[in-house]
Amino acid sequence: MNNNQKSIERKWWKEAVVYQIYPRSFKDSNGDGIGDLRGIIEKLDYIESLGVDVVWLNPIFSSPNDDNGYDVSDYRAIMDEFGTMADFDELLAGMHQRGIKLVLDLVVNHSSDEHFWFREAKKSRDNPYRDYYHWWNEEDGKPPKRWSFFDVNGDAWKFDETTKSYYLHIFSEKQPDLNWENPKLRQEVYDIVKFWFDKGIDGFRMDVITFISKDLPFRELPEKYQGNFVQYYAEGPHLHEYLQEFNREVLSKYDIMTVAEGPGTTTENVLDFVDEDRRELNMSYHFDISNLGHKDLAKKLMSPDGWNFLEFKEIFKKWDEVFAEKGWGTVYLGNHDFPRMVSRWGNDSPEFREISAKMLTTFLLTMRGTIYYYFGDELGMTNIRFDNIADYRDIMTINLHKLISSEGGDLDEFMESQKLIARDNGRTPFQWSDSENAGFTSGTPWLKVNPNYPEINAEAQEKDENSVLNYFRKMIRFRKENEVLIYGKTEYFDPESESVFAYTRGSEGRKLLILLNFTDQIATANVGFDYQSAKYLFGNYESFDGNLKPFQSVILEIYE
Ligand code: GLC
Ligand code: CA
Repeated sequence: MNNNQKSIERKWWKEAVVYQIYPRSFKDSNGDGIGDLRGIIEKLDYIESLGVDVVWLNPIFSSPNDDNGYDVSDYRAIMDEFGTMADFDELLAGMHQRGIKLVLDLVVNHSSDEHFWFREAKKSRDNPYRDYYHWWNEEDGKPPKRWSFFDVNGDAWKFDETTKSYYLHIFSEKQPDLNWENPKLRQEVYDIVKFWFDKGIDGFRMDVITFISKDLPFRELPEKYQGNFVQYYAEGPHLHEYLQEFNREVLSKYDIMTVAEGPGTTTENVLDFVDEDRRELNMSYHFDISNLGHKDLAKKLMSPDGWNFLEFKEIFKKWDEVFAEKGWGTVYLGNHDFPRMVSRWGNDSPEFREISAKMLTTFLLTMRGTIYYYFGDELGMTNIRFDNIADYRDIMTINLHKLISSEGGDLDEFMESQKLIARDNGRTPFQWSDSENAGFTSGTPWLKVNPNYPEINAEAQEKDENSVLNYFRKMIRFRKENEVLIYGKTEYFDPESESVFAYTRGSEGRKLLILLNFTDQIATANVGFDYQSAKYLFGNYESFDGNLKPFQSVILEIYE
Protein backbone atom coordinates (compact mmCIF):
# COMPACT_ATOMS: atom_id res chain seq x y z
CA MET A 1 0.00 0.00 0.00
CA ASN A 2 2.67 2.49 0.86
CA ASN A 3 6.24 1.58 0.31
CA ASN A 4 7.96 3.79 2.77
CA GLN A 5 6.40 1.89 5.67
CA LYS A 6 8.56 -1.09 4.80
CA SER A 7 11.69 0.81 5.63
CA ILE A 8 10.59 1.52 9.20
CA GLU A 9 12.28 -0.93 11.47
CA ARG A 10 10.29 -2.19 14.45
CA LYS A 11 11.63 -1.32 17.88
CA TRP A 12 10.15 -1.66 21.36
CA TRP A 13 10.58 2.02 22.03
CA LYS A 14 8.66 2.98 18.90
CA GLU A 15 5.66 1.08 20.23
CA ALA A 16 5.90 2.51 23.71
CA VAL A 17 3.72 4.77 25.73
CA VAL A 18 6.06 6.56 28.11
CA TYR A 19 4.60 7.72 31.40
CA GLN A 20 6.56 10.60 32.88
CA ILE A 21 6.72 10.90 36.65
CA TYR A 22 7.92 14.00 38.46
CA PRO A 23 9.13 12.16 41.57
CA ARG A 24 8.91 15.15 43.86
CA SER A 25 5.17 15.32 43.32
CA PHE A 26 4.06 11.73 42.88
CA LYS A 27 3.82 10.15 46.34
CA ASP A 28 5.46 10.99 49.64
CA SER A 29 6.13 7.90 51.74
CA ASN A 30 7.64 9.45 54.87
CA GLY A 31 5.69 12.62 55.58
CA ASP A 32 8.35 15.20 54.73
CA GLY A 33 6.11 16.66 52.04
CA ILE A 34 8.35 15.53 49.18
CA GLY A 35 7.58 12.66 46.88
CA ASP A 36 10.19 9.90 46.90
CA LEU A 37 11.23 6.55 45.46
CA ARG A 38 9.40 4.53 48.12
CA GLY A 39 6.31 6.49 47.19
CA ILE A 40 6.69 5.33 43.60
CA ILE A 41 7.26 1.76 44.82
CA GLU A 42 3.96 1.97 46.75
CA LYS A 43 2.22 2.94 43.54
CA LEU A 44 3.73 0.41 41.15
CA ASP A 45 0.47 -1.45 40.83
CA TYR A 46 -1.26 1.76 39.86
CA ILE A 47 1.38 2.45 37.22
CA GLU A 48 1.05 -1.07 35.89
CA SER A 49 -2.72 -0.72 35.78
CA LEU A 50 -2.39 2.15 33.32
CA GLY A 51 -0.92 -0.10 30.66
CA VAL A 52 2.12 2.10 30.00
CA ASP A 53 5.35 0.51 28.78
CA VAL A 54 8.04 2.85 30.01
CA VAL A 55 8.41 5.19 32.95
CA TRP A 56 10.62 8.25 32.66
CA LEU A 57 11.65 9.76 35.98
CA ASN A 58 12.87 13.33 36.23
CA PRO A 59 16.33 13.49 37.86
CA ILE A 60 16.70 11.46 41.05
CA PHE A 61 20.41 12.08 41.63
CA SER A 62 22.05 13.97 44.50
CA SER A 63 21.28 17.61 44.15
CA PRO A 64 20.98 20.80 46.18
CA ASN A 65 17.72 21.29 44.23
CA ASP A 66 18.24 24.76 42.93
CA ASP A 67 16.27 23.51 39.93
CA ASN A 68 14.64 20.42 41.44
CA GLY A 69 17.30 17.92 40.53
CA TYR A 70 18.41 19.46 37.24
CA ASP A 71 21.50 20.51 39.13
CA VAL A 72 23.31 17.27 39.91
CA SER A 73 26.01 17.14 42.56
CA ASP A 74 26.66 13.39 42.31
CA TYR A 75 25.59 11.42 39.27
CA ARG A 76 26.01 8.05 40.96
CA ALA A 77 24.03 8.70 44.12
CA ILE A 78 20.33 9.11 44.89
CA MET A 79 19.07 12.46 46.17
CA ASP A 80 18.68 12.24 49.96
CA GLU A 81 15.08 13.44 49.82
CA PHE A 82 14.22 10.69 47.34
CA GLY A 83 15.77 7.76 49.22
CA THR A 84 18.70 5.40 48.83
CA MET A 85 20.32 3.27 46.17
CA ALA A 86 18.64 0.25 47.78
CA ASP A 87 15.28 1.94 47.19
CA PHE A 88 16.28 2.55 43.61
CA ASP A 89 17.26 -1.06 43.04
CA GLU A 90 13.95 -2.18 44.48
CA LEU A 91 12.07 0.25 42.28
CA LEU A 92 13.85 -0.91 39.14
CA ALA A 93 13.25 -4.55 40.00
CA GLY A 94 9.59 -3.82 40.73
CA MET A 95 9.17 -2.18 37.36
CA HIS A 96 10.91 -4.94 35.47
CA GLN A 97 8.81 -7.56 37.24
CA ARG A 98 5.78 -5.81 35.87
CA GLY A 99 7.21 -5.57 32.38
CA ILE A 100 7.73 -1.83 32.62
CA LYS A 101 10.97 -0.24 31.47
CA LEU A 102 12.68 2.58 33.30
CA VAL A 103 14.26 5.63 31.72
CA LEU A 104 16.21 8.18 33.75
CA ASP A 105 17.06 11.80 33.08
CA LEU A 106 20.64 12.60 32.11
CA VAL A 107 21.60 16.18 32.92
CA VAL A 108 25.07 16.69 31.48
CA ASN A 109 24.95 20.02 29.74
CA HIS A 110 25.67 21.36 33.21
CA SER A 111 26.26 20.07 36.72
CA SER A 112 25.53 21.60 40.09
CA ASP A 113 28.03 24.14 41.37
CA GLU A 114 28.19 21.81 44.38
CA HIS A 115 29.50 18.94 42.30
CA PHE A 116 33.03 17.91 43.29
CA TRP A 117 34.28 18.87 39.81
CA PHE A 118 33.10 22.43 40.14
CA ARG A 119 34.23 22.82 43.72
CA GLU A 120 37.68 21.81 42.52
CA ALA A 121 37.55 23.81 39.30
CA LYS A 122 37.01 27.10 41.04
CA LYS A 123 39.91 26.64 43.45
CA SER A 124 42.49 27.89 40.98
CA ARG A 125 43.05 28.46 37.33
CA ASP A 126 45.38 25.48 37.15
CA ASN A 127 43.23 23.03 39.03
CA PRO A 128 42.98 19.70 37.13
CA TYR A 129 39.19 20.12 36.95
CA ARG A 130 39.32 23.66 35.64
CA ASP A 131 38.69 22.52 32.07
CA TYR A 132 35.56 20.64 33.04
CA TYR A 133 33.77 24.01 32.79
CA HIS A 134 33.80 27.14 30.63
CA TRP A 135 35.67 30.20 31.87
CA TRP A 136 36.34 33.75 30.70
CA ASN A 137 39.23 35.52 32.37
CA GLU A 138 38.73 38.97 33.82
CA GLU A 139 41.77 40.40 31.99
CA ASP A 140 40.05 39.64 28.68
CA GLY A 141 37.37 42.20 29.43
CA LYS A 142 33.64 41.62 29.61
CA PRO A 143 32.51 38.39 27.99
CA PRO A 144 30.06 38.62 25.10
CA LYS A 145 26.39 38.45 26.04
CA ARG A 146 24.98 35.02 26.72
CA TRP A 147 21.35 34.67 27.77
CA SER A 148 20.57 32.68 30.90
CA PHE A 149 17.14 31.21 31.36
CA PHE A 150 17.13 31.37 35.13
CA ASP A 151 19.38 34.26 36.03
CA VAL A 152 17.87 37.28 37.78
CA ASN A 153 19.62 39.48 35.23
CA GLY A 154 19.34 37.09 32.33
CA ASP A 155 23.14 36.94 32.30
CA ALA A 156 24.81 33.55 31.75
CA TRP A 157 28.21 34.72 33.01
CA LYS A 158 28.90 34.76 36.73
CA PHE A 159 32.02 36.31 38.14
CA ASP A 160 34.10 34.12 40.42
CA GLU A 161 36.16 36.16 42.88
CA THR A 162 38.74 33.51 43.72
CA THR A 163 40.01 32.95 40.22
CA LYS A 164 39.02 36.33 38.78
CA SER A 165 37.08 34.91 35.92
CA TYR A 166 33.53 34.36 34.78
CA TYR A 167 31.98 30.94 34.35
CA LEU A 168 29.20 30.12 31.95
CA HIS A 169 25.75 29.05 33.18
CA ILE A 170 23.00 28.94 30.57
CA PHE A 171 20.62 28.00 33.37
CA SER A 172 20.93 29.18 36.98
CA GLU A 173 24.22 30.32 38.50
CA LYS A 174 24.14 27.05 40.42
CA GLN A 175 24.17 25.14 37.10
CA PRO A 176 27.58 25.77 35.51
CA ASP A 177 27.89 24.44 31.94
CA LEU A 178 30.15 21.45 31.48
CA ASN A 179 32.92 21.64 28.92
CA TRP A 180 32.38 18.91 26.33
CA GLU A 181 35.47 20.07 24.45
CA ASN A 182 37.44 18.29 27.14
CA PRO A 183 37.79 14.58 26.30
CA LYS A 184 38.18 13.79 30.01
CA LEU A 185 34.79 15.28 30.75
CA ARG A 186 33.23 13.29 27.93
CA GLN A 187 34.77 10.12 29.33
CA GLU A 188 33.31 10.93 32.75
CA VAL A 189 29.87 11.23 31.17
CA TYR A 190 30.24 7.91 29.37
CA ASP A 191 31.30 6.21 32.60
CA ILE A 192 28.27 7.58 34.43
CA VAL A 193 25.97 6.38 31.70
CA LYS A 194 27.59 2.93 31.72
CA PHE A 195 27.16 2.77 35.47
CA TRP A 196 23.39 3.17 35.11
CA PHE A 197 23.04 0.91 32.07
CA ASP A 198 24.96 -1.78 33.92
CA LYS A 199 22.42 -1.48 36.70
CA GLY A 200 19.83 -2.36 34.10
CA ILE A 201 17.98 0.85 33.32
CA ASP A 202 16.43 1.04 29.88
CA GLY A 203 17.45 4.41 28.62
CA PHE A 204 17.96 8.10 29.12
CA ARG A 205 16.08 11.24 28.37
CA MET A 206 18.85 13.73 27.75
CA ASP A 207 18.34 17.15 29.20
CA VAL A 208 19.13 20.06 26.81
CA ILE A 209 21.55 17.79 25.03
CA THR A 210 21.41 20.09 22.01
CA PHE A 211 23.37 22.72 23.98
CA ILE A 212 26.48 20.70 24.85
CA SER A 213 28.79 22.04 22.14
CA LYS A 214 29.67 25.70 22.59
CA ASP A 215 30.67 28.02 19.81
CA LEU A 216 34.22 28.71 20.98
CA PRO A 217 35.94 31.05 21.40
CA PHE A 218 32.96 32.92 22.75
CA ARG A 219 31.96 35.56 20.22
CA GLU A 220 29.13 38.01 19.86
CA LEU A 221 25.89 36.31 18.87
CA PRO A 222 26.04 36.10 15.06
CA GLU A 223 23.47 38.30 13.42
CA LYS A 224 21.76 35.50 11.54
CA TYR A 225 20.29 34.25 14.83
CA GLN A 226 18.43 37.54 15.30
CA GLY A 227 18.69 37.38 19.05
CA ASN A 228 17.53 33.77 19.23
CA PHE A 229 19.93 32.27 21.75
CA VAL A 230 18.14 28.93 21.90
CA GLN A 231 18.84 28.32 18.23
CA TYR A 232 22.42 29.46 18.61
CA TYR A 233 23.03 27.23 21.64
CA ALA A 234 21.61 24.27 19.75
CA GLU A 235 23.95 24.56 16.79
CA GLY A 236 27.35 24.19 18.39
CA PRO A 237 30.05 23.17 15.90
CA HIS A 238 30.92 19.80 17.50
CA LEU A 239 27.48 18.71 18.64
CA HIS A 240 27.10 15.80 16.25
CA GLU A 241 30.68 14.71 16.61
CA TYR A 242 30.10 14.36 20.36
CA LEU A 243 26.81 12.55 19.96
CA GLN A 244 28.38 10.11 17.52
CA GLU A 245 31.24 9.46 19.88
CA PHE A 246 28.75 9.00 22.74
CA ASN A 247 26.84 6.50 20.64
CA ARG A 248 29.97 4.61 19.62
CA GLU A 249 31.46 4.49 23.11
CA VAL A 250 28.34 3.60 25.10
CA LEU A 251 24.87 3.85 23.64
CA SER A 252 25.33 1.35 20.82
CA LYS A 253 26.38 -1.32 23.29
CA TYR A 254 23.04 -1.61 25.06
CA ASP A 255 19.41 -2.28 24.14
CA ILE A 256 18.22 1.04 25.46
CA MET A 257 16.32 4.08 24.22
CA THR A 258 17.52 7.64 24.05
CA VAL A 259 15.47 10.75 23.63
CA ALA A 260 16.89 14.23 23.33
CA GLU A 261 15.23 17.15 24.90
CA GLY A 262 15.64 19.13 21.72
CA PRO A 263 15.31 22.87 22.14
CA GLY A 264 16.44 24.37 18.85
CA THR A 265 15.64 21.28 16.81
CA THR A 266 13.72 22.05 13.66
CA THR A 267 12.19 19.93 10.95
CA GLU A 268 15.24 20.82 8.87
CA ASN A 269 17.86 19.61 11.33
CA VAL A 270 16.21 16.93 13.45
CA LEU A 271 17.20 14.02 11.25
CA ASP A 272 20.81 14.89 11.99
CA PHE A 273 20.06 13.63 15.50
CA VAL A 274 17.76 10.68 14.86
CA ASP A 275 18.41 9.32 11.37
CA GLU A 276 19.48 5.81 12.41
CA ASP A 277 22.28 5.75 9.83
CA ARG A 278 24.01 8.57 11.65
CA ARG A 279 24.14 6.58 14.89
CA GLU A 280 23.37 9.31 17.36
CA LEU A 281 20.09 9.22 19.30
CA ASN A 282 16.74 7.45 18.84
CA MET A 283 14.32 10.31 19.31
CA SER A 284 14.12 13.99 20.07
CA TYR A 285 11.33 16.23 21.18
CA HIS A 286 10.79 19.71 19.86
CA PHE A 287 9.27 22.88 21.29
CA ASP A 288 7.23 24.17 18.37
CA ILE A 289 3.93 23.23 19.99
CA SER A 290 4.73 24.37 23.49
CA ASN A 291 6.04 27.68 22.14
CA LEU A 292 2.66 28.53 20.59
CA GLY A 293 0.74 31.50 21.87
CA HIS A 294 3.64 33.39 23.40
CA LYS A 295 4.21 37.08 23.08
CA ASP A 296 7.69 36.86 24.62
CA LEU A 297 9.19 33.41 24.97
CA ALA A 298 12.22 34.37 27.04
CA LYS A 299 10.08 36.18 29.59
CA LYS A 300 7.25 33.70 29.43
CA LEU A 301 4.60 36.23 28.50
CA MET A 302 1.54 34.96 26.72
CA SER A 303 -0.21 36.60 23.84
CA PRO A 304 -3.72 37.90 24.59
CA ASP A 305 -4.89 36.19 21.37
CA GLY A 306 -4.17 32.70 22.65
CA TRP A 307 -2.74 30.00 20.40
CA ASN A 308 -3.60 29.27 16.83
CA PHE A 309 -5.23 25.92 16.08
CA LEU A 310 -4.29 25.95 12.39
CA GLU A 311 -0.66 26.38 13.34
CA PHE A 312 -1.00 23.64 15.94
CA LYS A 313 -2.23 21.22 13.29
CA GLU A 314 0.40 22.26 10.79
CA ILE A 315 3.19 21.72 13.31
CA PHE A 316 2.07 18.18 14.13
CA LYS A 317 1.74 17.41 10.45
CA LYS A 318 5.13 18.69 9.40
CA TRP A 319 6.87 16.99 12.31
CA ASP A 320 5.20 13.72 11.42
CA GLU A 321 6.17 13.99 7.77
CA VAL A 322 9.85 14.42 8.59
CA PHE A 323 9.90 10.88 9.95
CA ALA A 324 8.04 9.25 7.08
CA GLU A 325 11.05 7.22 6.08
CA LYS A 326 13.78 7.77 8.60
CA GLY A 327 14.10 8.47 12.28
CA TRP A 328 11.16 8.39 14.62
CA GLY A 329 9.05 11.08 16.24
CA THR A 330 7.75 11.88 19.67
CA VAL A 331 4.35 13.16 20.66
CA TYR A 332 3.49 15.01 23.86
CA LEU A 333 1.24 17.77 25.12
CA GLY A 334 2.76 18.41 28.51
CA ASN A 335 5.66 17.71 30.80
CA HIS A 336 7.32 19.13 33.90
CA ASP A 337 8.28 22.29 31.99
CA PHE A 338 4.78 23.09 30.86
CA PRO A 339 1.31 23.57 32.30
CA ARG A 340 -1.39 20.96 32.51
CA MET A 341 -2.51 19.53 29.19
CA VAL A 342 -6.21 20.14 29.70
CA SER A 343 -5.67 23.74 30.83
CA ARG A 344 -3.35 24.54 27.95
CA TRP A 345 -4.95 22.70 25.02
CA GLY A 346 -8.42 21.71 26.17
CA ASN A 347 -10.91 23.42 28.40
CA ASP A 348 -10.67 22.95 32.14
CA SER A 349 -14.02 24.48 33.07
CA PRO A 350 -16.25 22.06 35.03
CA GLU A 351 -18.42 21.57 31.96
CA PHE A 352 -15.71 20.50 29.54
CA ARG A 353 -12.75 19.38 31.59
CA GLU A 354 -13.39 15.66 31.42
CA ILE A 355 -14.53 15.49 27.85
CA SER A 356 -11.69 17.65 26.56
CA ALA A 357 -9.09 15.70 28.57
CA LYS A 358 -10.40 12.53 26.94
CA MET A 359 -10.27 14.15 23.52
CA LEU A 360 -6.63 15.14 24.05
CA THR A 361 -5.84 11.63 25.24
CA THR A 362 -7.41 10.26 22.07
CA PHE A 363 -5.32 12.66 20.08
CA LEU A 364 -2.02 11.69 21.71
CA LEU A 365 -2.68 7.98 21.44
CA THR A 366 -3.70 8.03 17.80
CA MET A 367 -0.64 9.90 16.58
CA ARG A 368 2.39 8.32 14.99
CA GLY A 369 5.48 8.43 17.20
CA THR A 370 6.43 7.44 20.71
CA ILE A 371 3.89 8.86 23.14
CA TYR A 372 5.05 10.80 26.20
CA TYR A 373 2.23 11.14 28.68
CA TYR A 374 2.68 13.31 31.77
CA PHE A 375 1.56 11.97 35.14
CA GLY A 376 -1.67 13.52 36.41
CA ASP A 377 -2.92 14.25 32.91
CA GLU A 378 -4.62 10.85 33.08
CA LEU A 379 -6.86 12.37 35.77
CA GLY A 380 -7.37 15.59 33.87
CA MET A 381 -5.51 17.53 36.55
CA THR A 382 -5.59 21.30 35.95
CA ASN A 383 -3.39 24.37 36.37
CA ILE A 384 -3.33 25.72 39.91
CA ARG A 385 -3.08 29.39 38.84
CA PHE A 386 -1.36 30.97 41.81
CA ASP A 387 -2.22 34.61 42.51
CA ASN A 388 0.75 35.10 44.75
CA ILE A 389 4.41 34.91 43.73
CA ALA A 390 5.19 33.50 47.19
CA ASP A 391 3.33 30.30 46.29
CA TYR A 392 5.70 29.51 43.43
CA ARG A 393 8.66 27.20 44.03
CA ASP A 394 10.11 27.17 40.53
CA ILE A 395 13.35 29.11 40.10
CA MET A 396 12.29 30.08 36.60
CA THR A 397 9.15 31.89 37.71
CA ILE A 398 10.75 33.36 40.81
CA ASN A 399 13.78 34.75 38.98
CA LEU A 400 11.84 36.03 35.99
CA HIS A 401 9.60 37.85 38.44
CA LYS A 402 12.72 39.50 39.92
CA LEU A 403 14.06 40.31 36.47
CA ILE A 404 10.84 41.88 35.25
CA SER A 405 10.46 43.74 38.51
CA SER A 406 14.00 45.16 38.32
CA GLU A 407 13.35 46.28 34.75
CA GLY A 408 10.17 48.01 35.88
CA GLY A 409 8.13 45.67 33.67
CA ASP A 410 4.47 44.79 33.99
CA LEU A 411 4.28 42.29 36.85
CA ASP A 412 0.52 41.90 36.64
CA GLU A 413 0.84 40.80 33.06
CA PHE A 414 3.62 38.41 34.06
CA MET A 415 1.54 36.89 36.88
CA GLU A 416 -1.44 36.43 34.56
CA SER A 417 0.78 34.71 32.00
CA GLN A 418 2.16 32.45 34.70
CA LYS A 419 -1.34 31.20 35.46
CA LEU A 420 -1.37 29.84 31.95
CA ILE A 421 2.19 28.75 31.46
CA ALA A 422 4.22 28.46 34.70
CA ARG A 423 5.94 25.13 35.20
CA ASP A 424 4.61 24.78 38.75
CA ASN A 425 1.13 24.31 37.27
CA GLY A 426 2.26 20.89 36.10
CA ARG A 427 4.21 20.10 39.26
CA THR A 428 1.53 20.24 41.94
CA PRO A 429 1.21 16.98 43.88
CA PHE A 430 -0.62 14.08 42.31
CA GLN A 431 -4.21 13.87 43.49
CA TRP A 432 -4.65 10.38 44.87
CA SER A 433 -7.82 10.81 46.91
CA ASP A 434 -10.10 13.29 48.64
CA SER A 435 -8.32 12.88 51.96
CA GLU A 436 -6.07 15.61 53.32
CA ASN A 437 -3.44 16.86 50.86
CA ALA A 438 -5.04 14.67 48.24
CA GLY A 439 -3.44 11.65 49.88
CA PHE A 440 -0.06 12.79 48.58
CA THR A 441 1.57 13.39 51.95
CA SER A 442 0.80 13.33 55.67
CA GLY A 443 3.05 16.38 56.07
CA THR A 444 3.17 19.76 54.40
CA PRO A 445 3.52 19.42 50.63
CA TRP A 446 6.55 21.16 49.12
CA LEU A 447 4.23 22.82 46.60
CA LYS A 448 0.55 23.45 47.26
CA VAL A 449 -1.94 20.80 46.30
CA ASN A 450 -4.53 21.98 43.81
CA PRO A 451 -7.67 22.79 45.87
CA ASN A 452 -9.80 20.92 43.35
CA TYR A 453 -8.58 17.54 44.64
CA PRO A 454 -11.90 16.65 46.32
CA GLU A 455 -13.42 16.53 42.81
CA ILE A 456 -10.41 15.45 40.80
CA ASN A 457 -8.60 12.46 42.25
CA ALA A 458 -7.57 8.94 41.33
CA GLU A 459 -9.65 7.14 43.95
CA ALA A 460 -12.90 8.64 42.72
CA GLN A 461 -11.95 7.97 39.12
CA GLU A 462 -11.10 4.33 39.80
CA LYS A 463 -14.73 3.78 40.75
CA ASP A 464 -16.15 5.52 37.73
CA GLU A 465 -16.09 3.53 34.55
CA ASN A 466 -16.39 6.71 32.51
CA SER A 467 -13.66 8.64 34.23
CA VAL A 468 -10.78 10.30 32.42
CA LEU A 469 -8.49 7.77 34.09
CA ASN A 470 -10.37 4.76 32.80
CA TYR A 471 -10.63 6.34 29.40
CA PHE A 472 -6.83 6.63 29.33
CA ARG A 473 -6.51 2.93 30.15
CA LYS A 474 -8.98 1.94 27.45
CA MET A 475 -7.34 4.20 24.94
CA ILE A 476 -3.93 2.64 25.59
CA ARG A 477 -5.43 -0.80 25.15
CA PHE A 478 -7.07 0.32 21.94
CA ARG A 479 -3.76 1.58 20.58
CA LYS A 480 -2.06 -1.69 21.43
CA GLU A 481 -4.79 -3.75 19.81
CA ASN A 482 -4.65 -1.70 16.64
CA GLU A 483 -1.13 -1.73 15.36
CA VAL A 484 -2.07 0.58 12.55
CA LEU A 485 -2.02 3.32 15.17
CA ILE A 486 1.63 2.64 15.84
CA TYR A 487 3.27 2.07 12.47
CA GLY A 488 0.51 3.17 10.11
CA LYS A 489 1.02 6.12 7.86
CA THR A 490 -0.79 9.37 8.67
CA GLU A 491 -2.70 11.48 6.19
CA TYR A 492 -4.15 14.82 7.16
CA PHE A 493 -7.44 16.36 6.07
CA ASP A 494 -9.33 19.60 6.37
CA PRO A 495 -6.32 21.74 7.32
CA GLU A 496 -8.46 24.88 7.15
CA SER A 497 -10.94 23.75 9.76
CA GLU A 498 -10.75 25.99 12.80
CA SER A 499 -12.44 23.30 14.91
CA VAL A 500 -11.49 19.83 13.79
CA PHE A 501 -8.27 17.89 13.60
CA ALA A 502 -8.87 15.12 11.05
CA TYR A 503 -6.45 12.44 9.95
CA THR A 504 -6.27 8.82 8.95
CA ARG A 505 -3.86 6.14 10.06
CA GLY A 506 -3.38 3.43 7.48
CA SER A 507 -1.38 0.36 6.65
CA GLU A 508 -1.94 -2.84 4.67
CA GLY A 509 -5.62 -2.86 4.02
CA ARG A 510 -6.71 -1.00 7.15
CA LYS A 511 -7.59 2.61 7.59
CA LEU A 512 -8.82 4.44 10.64
CA LEU A 513 -10.22 7.94 10.49
CA ILE A 514 -9.73 10.08 13.57
CA LEU A 515 -11.85 13.19 14.05
CA LEU A 516 -11.22 15.49 16.99
CA ASN A 517 -13.27 18.52 17.83
CA PHE A 518 -11.05 20.99 19.68
CA THR A 519 -13.91 23.40 20.44
CA ASP A 520 -16.91 23.64 22.75
CA GLN A 521 -19.23 23.99 19.75
CA ILE A 522 -20.77 21.40 17.45
CA ALA A 523 -18.57 20.90 14.41
CA THR A 524 -18.35 18.89 11.20
CA ALA A 525 -15.31 17.68 9.36
CA ASN A 526 -14.87 18.06 5.61
CA VAL A 527 -12.45 15.32 4.77
CA GLY A 528 -13.37 15.18 1.09
CA PHE A 529 -14.69 11.63 1.15
CA ASP A 530 -17.75 9.97 2.53
CA TYR A 531 -17.38 8.44 5.95
CA GLN A 532 -21.02 8.10 6.90
CA SER A 533 -20.86 4.34 6.42
CA ALA A 534 -17.66 3.98 8.41
CA LYS A 535 -17.75 1.91 11.55
CA TYR A 536 -17.56 3.68 14.91
CA LEU A 537 -14.84 2.00 16.94
CA PHE A 538 -13.91 4.27 19.79
CA GLY A 539 -14.43 7.72 21.22
CA ASN A 540 -15.25 9.87 24.21
CA TYR A 541 -19.03 9.99 23.63
CA GLU A 542 -21.20 6.93 23.33
CA SER A 543 -21.90 7.33 19.66
CA PHE A 544 -21.32 9.45 16.62
CA ASP A 545 -24.12 10.87 14.51
CA GLY A 546 -22.02 12.60 11.88
CA ASN A 547 -21.67 15.87 13.75
CA LEU A 548 -18.98 16.28 16.36
CA LYS A 549 -20.27 17.34 19.76
CA PRO A 550 -18.13 19.70 21.89
CA PHE A 551 -14.68 18.16 22.24
CA GLN A 552 -15.88 14.93 20.70
CA SER A 553 -13.23 12.48 19.52
CA VAL A 554 -14.07 9.55 17.28
CA ILE A 555 -12.12 6.75 15.73
CA LEU A 556 -13.82 5.24 12.69
CA GLU A 557 -12.89 2.29 10.54
CA ILE A 558 -13.01 3.14 6.85
CA TYR A 559 -13.70 0.51 4.22
CA GLU A 560 -12.39 1.44 0.81
C1 GLC B 1 15.48 21.22 30.79
C2 GLC B 1 14.58 20.64 31.85
C3 GLC B 1 14.18 21.73 32.77
C4 GLC B 1 15.42 22.29 33.42
C5 GLC B 1 16.44 22.73 32.39
C6 GLC B 1 17.78 22.92 33.00
O1 GLC B 1 14.81 22.15 30.01
O2 GLC B 1 13.51 19.98 31.27
O3 GLC B 1 13.26 21.30 33.74
O4 GLC B 1 15.07 23.36 34.23
O5 GLC B 1 16.61 21.78 31.37
O6 GLC B 1 18.34 21.69 33.34
CA1 CA C 1 9.31 12.03 51.23
